[in-house]
Amino acid sequence: MSDSTTETTDTFALDFSTTPSPERRAAAEREEILADPGFGKHFTDHMASVEWTIDDGWHNASIHPYGPLSLDPSASVLHYAQEIFEGMKAYRHADGSIWSFRPDANARRFARSARRLALPELPESVFVESIRQLVAADQDWVPSAPETSLYLRPFMIATEAFLGVRAAHAVQYHCIASPAGAYFTSGPKPVSIWLSTQYARAARGGTGAAKTGGNYAASLLPQQEAYEHGCQQVMFLDSEKGEYLEELGGMNVVLVRSDGTLVTPDSDSILEGITRDSILQLALDRGLRVERRAVSLTEWRDGVADGTITEAFACGTAAVVTPIAELRGDGFTIGSPTTGAGELTMSLREELTDIQYGRRADPHGWMVRLTDPTSSAE
Ligand code: PLP
Ligand code: COI
Repeated sequence: MSDSTTETTDTFALDFSTTPSPERRAAAEREEILADPGFGKHFTDHMASVEWTIDDGWHNASIHPYGPLSLDPSASVLHYAQEIFEGMKAYRHADGSIWSFRPDANARRFARSARRLALPELPESVFVESIRQLVAADQDWVPSAPETSLYLRPFMIATEAFLGVRAAHAVQYHCIASPAGAYFTSGPKPVSIWLSTQYARAARGGTGAAKTGGNYAASLLPQQEAYEHGCQQVMFLDSEKGEYLEELGGMNVVLVRSDGTLVTPDSDSILEGITRDSILQLALDRGLRVERRAVSLTEWRDGVADGTITEAFACGTAAVVTPIAELRGDGFTIGSPTTGAGELTMSLREELTDIQYGRRADPHGWMVRLTDPTSSAE
């Protein structure tokens, strides 16, 4: 273990060294970006990194200037896609303080993804500390306009220079940050979804439950098909029977029954969304029923036809909660492009974002404070 590592049976800590960027953007340039950040287009001045080798474990944790990585062309991530990532946000509250939402849950999912991809698990404490330190360094990049945030993208890549097909012996963890407005430029307006019947996203026993780049690579062609049909996202069915709902390219899906019951697919080939889990908890808090089970396409179609399914929405960190107006596929449509936003959908969305932005109490202790109200990186 390196000198900066302290390890006991139940705690693990690394000291992050800090190298401030000599090229921090001027306040005026930053403010111009924050006024219209878009999604995933602009990046802050710093990034967090930690290295791992099979001999030394996790070491060399740092906050340093944002910039290109230097990789050997034989690095295994470039050939065998041994890679995982996370998506989370930092929110600015009215008093200026900055908070993250359930970072422990992202850290645990990152560890689950690591196990599936034969990557080393980054201890939860180091994952959370990397976020805390990066946000502290780049806190002026957290926008304050309504519904904006700093999107955080932790990721881990296999960097060993070796073409043999086995788990790499050298790995890098990084976290980058990007100021974010709405993922869908239309805001929380209902979206149209394209049902992919030709392509599956993930198979039973595959990597669907892990947040790994390959799943997203597999979704790009069907996503393109969705755009060609005027839809904003693609929906995947189970790969075995093509009967049961799985999820969208980058979001989970939830249906709402007329009695307020929330129904959502349970499958071991979808990503366990933290937004979905939180929304379902808020529904349970209201005394609503929640069903996590196999949900067939037929159930959705028949339910909309006979009025027992009244709303549908997509949810995820980037998209928050987005109502689904219609699901379209080859030769069939459920709903219509003019279907309005569901009442329960929008009220759950409001409750969740109120908690995230500190506008209402946080009964489950989901919010974790990252900076003080008065602190500034300048
Ligand atoms: N499903 C997929 C494929 C995703 O990419 C995401 C987004 O991260 C989700 C579901 C929702 O997960 P979360 O709510 O944790 O962001
Ligand atoms: C997220 O919501 O964090 C995602 O990862 C979805 C997409 C941007 C990949």
